Amino acid sequence: MAILPIIIAPDARLKVKCAPVGRVDAEIRALMDDMLESMHAARGIGLAAPQVGVPKRVIVVDVAGKDEEPAPLRMANPQLLWASDETIANEEGCLSFPDHYAEVARPGKVRVRYIDHENEVRETEMEGLLATCTQHEMDHLDGVLFVDHLSALKRNIILRKLTKTKKLKEAEAV
Ligand code: NI
Repeated sequence: MAILPIIIAPDARLKVKCAPVGRVDAEIRALMDDMLESMHAARGIGLAAPQVGVPKRVIVVDVAGKDEEPAPLRMANPQLLWASDETIANEEGCLSFPDHYAEVARPGKVRVRYIDHENEVRETEMEGLLATCTQHEMDHLDGVLFVDHLSALKRNIILRKLTKTKKLKEAEAV
């Protein structure tokens, strides 16, 4: 297992449409495990493969609380089968947008089909934080970021701040 560096927005690699996985083999399984380790190390609850520079349809999610048993989900080719008309607004963050949060409205319940780490096709109904987080991660696979759900004004404020922080960091590194 390895901790992979997480790409910070704005970055063209976060805007690509990712390719489906043929089957979950040892290589994809290793990617899933590395992603989970990287996500936990960064104290995140979800991570998508493009965030570590791999343009494949793979996401990991673990919304278990601090005092709960870990509940990692490893998903390849996740697909939305159904979404409730009812939406809920949750405060969202993203490991590619450190220190930025905003409320995003999404369907409160969804049914998702995916291939798990053992190459088994699974279908699960999700609600609450798990539904929000999984939809956020699935968006990443089509190059859609949570700020894309905000008004252009809010999105630009966040992106400008991130660009400034990046430039400062680059200047420090020289
Ligand atoms: Ni994200």
